[in-house]
Amino acid sequence: MQIQGKWALVTGASRGVGLRIAKALASQGAKVIVHSRSLDASQQVVEQITAAQGHAVAVAAELSDNAAIAQLIEQVNLITDNSLVVLYNNAAIMTPWREDSIVPANDYALSFQVNCIAPATLCDAFLPQMKQQKQARIVNVTSGIADQPQLMAYSCSKAALDRYVRDMLPSLANTSVLMNLMDPGWLQTDLGGEHAPDHPDSVIPGALVPVLLSDEAGSGLLYCAQDYRA
Ligand SMILES: NC(=O)c1ccc[n+]([C@@H]2O[C@H](COP(=O)([O-])OP(=O)(O)OC[C@H]3O[C@@H](n4cnc5c(N)ncnc54)[C@H](OP(=O)(O)O)[C@@H]3O)[C@@H](O)[C@H]2O)c1
Repeated sequence: MQIQGKWALVTGASRGVGLRIAKALASQGAKVIVHSRSLDASQQVVEQITAAQGHAVAVAAELSDNAAIAQLIEQVNLITDNSLVVLYNNAAIMTPWREDSIVPANDYALSFQVNCIAPATLCDAFLPQMKQQKQARIVNVTSGIADQPQLMAYSCSKAALDRYVRDMLPSLANTSVLMNLMDPGWLQTDLGGEHAPDHPDSVIPGALVPVLLSDEAGSGLLYCAQDYRA
């Protein structure tokens, strides 16, 4: 898909995977809305993008707060004049490692809110206008995490997001919107930690594949960014 001049929202774009995705989309000519919890942090990324001749706008919202999500949606609609073409749901949290594998209920509540309910709310909010576009793409960032009961809240929240994508497929049939999942791989970010094997730069170009693919590729697929490394 051609994204030159089209609006893209990347959540959690202040650092890590989202930062790489925001810059890569801008380098392909997209107008990028850079999201994080802090306007200052988002603005710093905007400055990096504009210094490289790209176009970007900063926004901030705490995704554990439904009122803040509603304000973010309004703000994006104002910025784009209701014409968002790419929604990249990347922001996520990982609650602390629970050595005894007894995960507090609050870990589940916070993980589900930020990692599943917030992205689903953004999908639901922007889908109607995205269906009006000639082509549009939604990418929800998932994880290959497995067999780590100490991180069960994170793992279950990503499984719920995977299920959201799968069960949305009937509502995407015969529309211009593709909705897919992207697993970045285990990376040296604040979330991934220092023991991860790969640098976050390695997420590009793979993370762009579910955005740039053609309509025939379809929805409901998992793209593993590390599969596209040179
Ligand atoms: N790194 C890995 O090894 C790995 C592996 C598999 C999947 N993933 C997935 O890849 C995505 C990006 O991860 P990452 O490693 O790049 O994480 P990261 O470096 O910790 O960055 C997280 C981003 O999300 C934002 N964010 C965090 N909590 C938020 C909240 N409550 N409300 C709004 N924004 C929030 C942060 O904004 P602030 O700067 O404002 O905090 C930041 O921009 C996530 O979906 C993660 O689950 C990562």
